[in-house]
Amino acid sequence: MTTLKQRSLLGLKDLDRAEIEAILDRAAYWERHPEKVNPVMQGKFVANMFFENSTRTRFSFEVAEKRLGAEVLNFSAAVSSVQKGESIYDTVRTLESMGIDAGVIRLKPIGVLAELAAKIKVPLINAGDGNNEHPTQALLDLYTMRKQFGELKGLTVSIIGDVLHSRVARSNLWALRKFGAKVQFCAPANMTAAELDVPYVSMEEALKADVVMMLRVQLERHDSGMIKSAEDYRTHFGLTNERARLLAPHAIIMHPAPINRGVEIDDELVEHEQSRIFPQMQNGVPVRMAVVERALG
Ligand code: CP
Repeated sequence: MTTLKQRSLLGLKDLDRAEIEAILDRAAYWERHPEKVNPVMQGKFVANMFFENSTRTRFSFEVAEKRLGAEVLNFSAAVSSVQKGESIYDTVRTLESMGIDAGVIRLKPIGVLAELAAKIKVPLINAGDGNNEHPTQALLDLYTMRKQFGELKGLTVSIIGDVLHSRVARSNLWALRKFGAKVQFCAPANMTAAELDVPYVSMEEALKADVVMMLRVQLERHDSGMIKSAEDYRTHFGLTNERARLLAPHAIIMHPAPINRGVEIDDELVEHEQSRIFPQMQNGVPVRMAVVERALG
């Protein structure tokens, strides 16, 4: 019998390598079973509670839940009683009291998820909380890399861009290190994360990696003046067509999206033959099927 803690997914920092591997293996199982619906979770109710905007994560969770045959409740803060001042806790507690079996939750603030998980009696899945963690994004990133290279051990992964505001960078860092991959960051001086013990390298060095993961410039989280201009950012830290020609032939380009085309990555590179950006989104469905199945038990 698994515990509530074992069925929740709050982050990858504290998740064992074996647990991560089990999720990736189960995702591979679901990828080999491409039937639209496998109703193994029929009769279970999952609430998707997004207190911050999302396209990929929200819809791929919904697709994953529906492919498992679960009943899906979609909560959107913009059209809820949050607008009347209801708290996050009261909102989640309300859905719990109605009998949901699991909750997928995206939050702006950091720290709230751990507090909720301590009080709520159904498994919670982190769909991104502030700049803390985005575990299912990193799982689908690992899945994409494993599919490409066979194993993660020995890979060099360059994560380039707005590291300061990136939960994707953090979750990837925690997870990739457990598998023996080397992670390095490349970022503007005002977008580094001093609390993380990670080497920073130049753009030239970053482009020698097996995986070049570009991060979105998170303008909505910036204080004014963090970047001079989009063109200036592109010149110094963008994956331009010119820089892409320096990539090793076996290297892949990744990006969690949404993408600022022409800022952190040139338009033509998004669907370049070395890009795995849309396959990342495709892989998000089987990965989230594995995570939802694990939560529902
Ligand atoms: N990658 C990602 O989390 O995208 P969304 O914000 O659209 O969910």
